[in-house]
Amino acid sequence: MKKLGLSRASALTTIGLTLLLASCDVPRSTLNPAGPAAEKLANLEWLMIFIFLCVTFFMWVLIMWAMKRTRRGNFSEHAPIDIGGGQGWVTFGGFLFPFIVLTFLFVVGLRAMSSFPMGDNEKTEEPKPDILVIGHQWWWEAHYLQGGVDQHFTTANEFHIPVGKPVDIALESTDVIHSFWVPKLHGKVDLVPGQVNYIRIQADKPGNYGGTCAEYCGAQHAHMELLVVAQTPEDYQAWYQHQLQPGAEPTDPEAVHGKEVFLAGPCILCHTVRGTSAGGTVGPDLTHLASRQYIAANAFQNNKANLEGWVTHAQTMKPDAEMPNLSFFTGTDLRSLVAYLQQLQ
Ligand code: CUA
Repeated sequence: MKKLGLSRASALTTIGLTLLLASCDVPRSTLNPAGPAAEKLANLEWLMIFIFLCVTFFMWVLIMWAMKRTRRGNFSEHAPIDIGGGQGWVTFGGFLFPFIVLTFLFVVGLRAMSSFPMGDNEKTEEPKPDILVIGHQWWWEAHYLQGGVDQHFTTANEFHIPVGKPVDIALESTDVIHSFWVPKLHGKVDLVPGQVNYIRIQADKPGNYGGTCAEYCGAQHAHMELLVVAQTPEDYQAWYQHQLQPGAEPTDPEAVHGKEVFLAGPCILCHTVRGTSAGGTVGPDLTHLASRQYIAANAFQNNKANLEGWVTHAQTMKPDAEMPNLSFFTGTDLRSLVAYLQQLQ
C-alpha cells in the first residue's frame, strides 16, 4: 500500500466503487437506466466521471512531479520554488484548461437537458398529457387522461405504463413544492403550486421502477414514494380496463359487513370508492386499493396487518400525515373493514 501511494489507492477505490455500483442491479441507480431519457442522463454522468478521473489523475501527476523536483533541488524550506514556465502555467492551468473542460461539459449538459420538456409538443401546441400527477403532502394522486372522459380514472401512488411507449405526465401540486423522480426512467422535475410542469418517461422493459419525492416537502418527505409499473401492452390494457371498473362488490359476509362499516364511518369524507357513496377527494382513491402493492405512498406493504395498523394508528406509522388515528375501529368491525378493503381488487 505504501508503494502504491495514497492518491492512487483512493483513485482506484473510486473507480472500483463506481464500477460496482454500475454492475449491480441497484433498483434506483441512475447509472442503470431503463429508458431513453435516463440513458441520456446516465451517459452524461459517465462522461463527467471519466473527465473527473482524468483531471484528478493529471493533478496528482503534477503534484508528484513538483514534489520530486523540490526534493532534488537544493531549496531551503521556505524559499519560493520556480518550476519554470512562469505565466504560461497560470494561463493554461488557471484559465484555459478549466475553461475548456467546463465549457465542454456545459454544452454536453445542455444537450442532455433537451430531453426534459415533452419534445416538440410543448413548443407548437398545448401538451396533451397521458397522466396528470398531483403532489400532496405526502402522496401522489394520478388521473389517467387517455381517450374520452369515459376512459378516465383516478388512482394513487402506483402508476402503470406500457413498455416501449413514451408517456407524457403533467405535474401539479396542491400544497408545497415536490419533485417527481424515478431514477431509472428520468431525471427530476418539480411539482410547483400554481404551475404545470411536464415530463416524458419511457421504460424499455417490463418491471417495477421505484421513485421518490426529491424535494424536501415536510415531515414525511422521505416517505413520499411512488412506483412505476411498466407492462407489456396487453397487460397494460388489461390493467387499464380493470381500473375503469367500479369498486368490487363484496360477496363474503365479513366483507359485506366491512362495506357497511366503511360507508357508515368517516372514511368516505376523504376517500372515494367508485360505485359507492364514498366520494371524498382529500385522500387516495381506494376503488382498486387491493391491486396496489403498497399503502401510505408506498411506505408500507399492502397487507392485512399494515392495513389494520394504518386505519387505527396512522399517526404512529406516518406522523403528521392527513390520515387520522381511527382507533375506535376495533374487533369485528376493524377486521371486516380491512376484509372489505382487501377485496377491492
Ligand atoms: Cu413531496 Cu418531498
